[in-house]
Amino acid sequence: MQSALQLPGPKAKAIIDRDREVISPSYPRDNPFVMDFGKGAEVWDVDGNRFLDFAAGIAVASTGHSHPKVVKAIQDQAEKFIHISSDYYHQKWVAFGEKLNTIAPFQEDALSFMTNSGTESVEAAIKLARHYTGRTQFIGFLGGFHGRTMGSLAFTASKPCYHEGFYPLMNGVTHVPYPDPYRPVLQSLPGEHYGETVVRYIEEQILAKVLPHRDVAGIMVETIQGEGGYVVPAPGFYPALRDLCNRYQILLIVDEVQSGMGRTGKWWAIEHFGVEPDIVCVGKGIASGVPLGAIIARKSLMNWTTGTHGNTFGGNPIACAAALATIELIENEYMDNAAEVGNYTLDALHEIKTRHPSIGDVRGMGLMIGVEFVKDHQTREPDDELRDRIIHQAFEGGLLILGCGISTIRISPPLNISHSEIDEGLQIFEEAIALAARKQYSAHVA
Ligand SMILES: Cc1ncc(COP(=O)(O)O)c(C=O)c1O
Repeated sequence: MQSALQLPGPKAKAIIDRDREVISPSYPRDNPFVMDFGKGAEVWDVDGNRFLDFAAGIAVASTGHSHPKVVKAIQDQAEKFIHISSDYYHQKWVAFGEKLNTIAPFQEDALSFMTNSGTESVEAAIKLARHYTGRTQFIGFLGGFHGRTMGSLAFTASKPCYHEGFYPLMNGVTHVPYPDPYRPVLQSLPGEHYGETVVRYIEEQILAKVLPHRDVAGIMVETIQGEGGYVVPAPGFYPALRDLCNRYQILLIVDEVQSGMGRTGKWWAIEHFGVEPDIVCVGKGIASGVPLGAIIARKSLMNWTTGTHGNTFGGNPIACAAALATIELIENEYMDNAAEVGNYTLDALHEIKTRHPSIGDVRGMGLMIGVEFVKDHQTREPDDELRDRIIHQAFEGGLLILGCGISTIRISPPLNISHSEIDEGLQIFEEAIALAARKQYSAHVA
């Protein structure tokens, strides 16, 4: 590990001071990183310090920072035209829609609606589900994160601070436990998978007692929970959920804003579970960092008529050009890399876990990996204080990582990261765990 960096450096500090004067204080900034430039999985701050990026701008820089092919696609498009508005047509928008149709995780043909962010994709899914079904109610999951605008915020349930001071939210969302295999809150029947238990709870406790199924438009779920802790759902969940939705004509809406675009080694995480959703919410890594989102819906569902939904920037040509270049790179190389390097990283983390009793759980798929810290393996009491120290310590060692859930660290690097970069980052990570644990111990005995 390089000797601890002195952070922030003088140039970074000056920018942070200016930022404080003019930028909303609501943004959560864990570490004083002021970016100068990036290349692949490496980033440099304005004082010339190099970091490995295991966060990728919250799982956004899917093809790495400033991939030359993405940069070229953006440059070429910018020279032709930057904007025309969704009142007209252009080639790249159609080509992007065609591509989404070919990679949609269902057999039926797909139609797509383009947005500018994840939250806007979720809003579009809510509206389409209500419009198509004529029903008003939804089921969401505790620990879920779907965005911060009023509709998506009604589903978001990962921290109370997201809601505090913002009521009333959109009406009509009932939350149920997410099938978290490490922290189950429901009792399974003998021989029942925990994923099935959660679906049985929805049917027997929610639909049978409080929420009439004929009023439920959709169930919205993060295929793998992101901000809530990088939680891979327990076995049995998706087949049982799909079956429940079929029985009551409820739409299955998967939020793949974080888990999609090849991150788990398949285009969409839902493909690992053998079921087909009705609507897919897309965002983050779709255009390597150019703001773009979409919903992909079964063609028969997207029957809303002219004017019922729209936006000015939908299908922005620069965003579509970046998305087309991104999709090609992911398709040709990086999805396979995510699967392969992801397995390698998971194995390495399982080994690290044997040396650090503070690691309670390691889980994930592809390059969407969570490492959860606990005070005690038996009680599984979360150690959020240690987790925060580790993030800080890793930063000083030259590694960008982000937290999620109560006491989890997420590892979500660019999909083209190499084995040697993973090795380097994990070495910094492990040393950060040891240093943070030592500091915590000395703070407690002092
Ligand atoms: C699963 C999921 N859905 C939706 C969103 C909201 O996306 P955005 O921040 O682009 O609005 C996020 C953001 O973290 C997310 O992880």
